Amino acid sequence: MRNKLRLLTPGPTPLPEEVRLALAQDMVHHRKPGFKAVLHRVQEGLQWLFQTTQPVLPLACSGSGAMNAAVWNLFQPGERVLVVEAGKFGQRWTQIAAARGLETTVITLPWGQAVSPARVDEALQADPAIRGVLIQASETSTGVLHPVREIAALTRTRETLLVADGISAVGVSPCPMDEWGVDCLLTGSQKGLMLPPGLAFVALSPRAWTAVEGHPSPKACPVTYFDLRRERDNCLKDQTLYTPAINLLNGLDVSLRLFRERGLEDIFRKQWALTRMTRTAVHALGLEPLVQRAYTWGLTSILMPAGLDGQRLLQIAADRYGVVMAGGQDHLKGRIVRLGHMGHVDFADILAGLYALRQALADCGGHSGSRDYLERGLAAYEQALCVPDVYAAQLHQF
Ligand SMILES: Cc1ncc(COP(=O)(O)O)c(C=O)c1O
Repeated sequence: MRNKLRLLTPGPTPLPEEVRLALAQDMVHHRKPGFKAVLHRVQEGLQWLFQTTQPVLPLACSGSGAMNAAVWNLFQPGERVLVVEAGKFGQRWTQIAAARGLETTVITLPWGQAVSPARVDEALQADPAIRGVLIQASETSTGVLHPVREIAALTRTRETLLVADGISAVGVSPCPMDEWGVDCLLTGSQKGLMLPPGLAFVALSPRAWTAVEGHPSPKACPVTYFDLRRERDNCLKDQTLYTPAINLLNGLDVSLRLFRERGLEDIFRKQWALTRMTRTAVHALGLEPLVQRAYTWGLTSILMPAGLDGQRLLQIAADRYGVVMAGGQDHLKGRIVRLGHMGHVDFADILAGLYALRQALADCGGHSGSRDYLERGLAAYEQALCVPDVYAAQLHQF
């Protein structure tokens, strides 16, 4: 039987119809007033989304481009940064920092663990020369949520910039940039924002801008494409430095409108509820999530029972039940299944995902006696929707 295809990967994520229609619009010229109006609206929406008064610069690249832009603009060769490496994307920070010629102190954690603020504090106290902390708000390779707010409380009183990769956090769980004191927050288009891949966004705090501008020579930006100063100067004129990804920005205009109609708190609440739903059903199936406590709100990593090949399960879930999920990376390949629940997905999609998980598990020779895992998941969903303060729900995770 051919089922409807459901994309439940932790990025890319499905697109609302309104966004798909906006993407299909014909070309316009990007230096004309009509498109400037789009960029103006988009800029307002992005600042609202990032919860910042600073410009949020749209870049035509994937999320890793924004990570590169941040490191190359904020730091100079020889400077030292602290990297929290608890998964694939933490490792990417280390690679980018090395390419920029930075000295790195790395906190390496087992995949599935969040860093403790005490550990970051200790590293910062041990070496006052550390100019930046590079971290993921949400480590998508494992499904961990790092305590960005608590780490910002450590960096904001020091001459240390906090650079947070919010690629699977922005628009998914609270990360109010200005209130927390995050110095650089970045994200990509293909996760919480309900857009195709191809756009990334970076915002800097006033003190991060001071660092960018403090480079010894005004020509110090070693890259011409990712020169954030010139991007900002253009942004302030409702322009981009180079030819922008016009269709994607048209799509963003619509997705931000949808976001604003619903409200950030409501979106976070939905994300929290889908997370609770998934985790409850996973437990009911007798499975274990990889992350016990500080788990992210856009995906759930599920440990496969010993001897069961997660890659095979994924193939069956897609082929027989129409649900596309993701596997683990590196040493977690075959050992975890990552069920994405961010962006344009709702409880009905997650019911389908959980059902596919259970059926594919059985088809692979796994066993679960649970008959009420979906009901239990739904009950957890409804309960989580009623949480009085969704921001507090996140803080309790640490
Ligand atoms: C947390 C995180 N950082 C970085 C990246 C890399 O982004 P991209 O593949 O868009 O370059 C991803 C992509 O999945 C991610 O989830």
